[in-house]
Amino acid sequence: MKEKILGLLGFPPPTALVKTYSPWKEGTTITENALVVDGRSVKDEVGLKAVFNQLQGGVKNIKVNGKVLVYSIQPELIEDTHYSAYQRSLEGIARSLAKELGGRGTTVNLLKLPPNADLKNYTVPEQFFTSGRSAFITGQAVVLDGEAPKVGDLSDKVCVVTGGAGGIGSATVKRLAAEGATVIIADIPQMEERAKSLLNDTSTSLSASKVSFMGADLTKPEARKQLLEAIKAKHGRIDVLINNAGITRDKTLKNMPEHYWDQVIDINLSAVIALTEDALELGLIPHGGRIISTSSISGIAGNFGQTNYTATKAAVIGYSASKAKELKAKGITINAIAPGYIETEMVKTMPLITRIFAERLTSLAQAGKPEDIAEAMAFLAHPGAECINGQVLRVCGGSFLGA
Ligand SMILES: NC(=O)c1ccc[n+]([C@@H]2O[C@H](COP(=O)([O-])OP(=O)(O)OC[C@H]3O[C@@H](n4cnc5c(N)ncnc54)[C@H](O)[C@@H]3O)[C@@H](O)[C@H]2O)c1
Repeated sequence: MKEKILGLLGFPPPTALVKTYSPWKEGTTITENALVVDGRSVKDEVGLKAVFNQLQGGVKNIKVNGKVLVYSIQPELIEDTHYSAYQRSLEGIARSLAKELGGRGTTVNLLKLPPNADLKNYTVPEQFFTSGRSAFITGQAVVLDGEAPKVGDLSDKVCVVTGGAGGIGSATVKRLAAEGATVIIADIPQMEERAKSLLNDTSTSLSASKVSFMGADLTKPEARKQLLEAIKAKHGRIDVLINNAGITRDKTLKNMPEHYWDQVIDINLSAVIALTEDALELGLIPHGGRIISTSSISGIAGNFGQTNYTATKAAVIGYSASKAKELKAKGITINAIAPGYIETEMVKTMPLITRIFAERLTSLAQAGKPEDIAEAMAFLAHPGAECINGQVLRVCGGSFLGA
């Protein structure tokens, strides 16, 4: 049915991405189908032409579902005006090339480093952006600051995933558990059965000793308090806090009932800030801790009928950006992930035509999977992602919205 409608609209069928999701392991090497271009010395026309030649030669050889990664220096940290301008030009190239190669499932991203950085200190981000783990991230420019530890994994980490029984949440739980993390699914009590079915699903092989469910309506202060106290008593800390629970209640501003507004603000925003602040105040998030909140590309671009939702999704980006400096001094990072159109229960309420456009108006011309977001969560949770702080990582297939 859907393909028939797509045909009528004159769209070509989507490119099938072959995505591989193997847990990241120390020592994983860059895949053969990745092209890494170091453009950090580009400061004039000659240097830029060299990058053009390198990319042109490289992309001709890249197969479908390839990865192109370009390094630049953060232009705002360069005093020389020409040098800064030419470094910025690399961002334009990466964003455009992402649109050109997306139809073949190939992604293009830019990592912006501090001046004089040693690439050896950024192996974890490099491996992420040159592997299938970042298959739904393209056309993005990510700032890397400081040096990132190369070692460490998630096996000794205590992770809390709010909304962990939902689409993106349960994929994230599985992904973190696959690396041996202890994971607490924090969701409304009514989702306990759903969470348990995840544990009983033989294909996931989640261990009940490592993954548990704690019921809490996060909009209720008392429930948040009980949740944090229970985690403190059982685990003593939260190494990774993933603020992922969220809802939509769509209506145009003019017609929006007040309770639609209040419900969305309560769960998507007030609860996120309150839970994070309470966990920090209780000293539950240690040095090396990670806070990751699920935003949305709608929070960047705006969306018809979603003033309530986009207010919250923009705010969690603002909260992460503003809190990052304070937390950096404590060795904790805080970031947001902005998913594009991801196939979960939440989006099934959207009209079919909207869903078709959401898929097609992206460089990769398709929807993402909850696993795409889970991979990005696991990446930002990793000790080697310490160099990413206060940012928003779009996992949207290169959506044209807000790009
Ligand atoms: N699916 C998408 O395309 C998409 C796109 C952008 C952003 N997001 C965001 O990703 C997150 C997860 O979305 P999803 O698609 O997996 O949705 P989902 O509906 O499958 O999951 C949301 C989860 O949040 C839980 N939740 C709702 N209210 C809660 C409360 N008061 N206390 C505790 N838990 C509560 C629900 O029970 C559910 O398990 C949301 O924040 C959403 O806004 C999703």
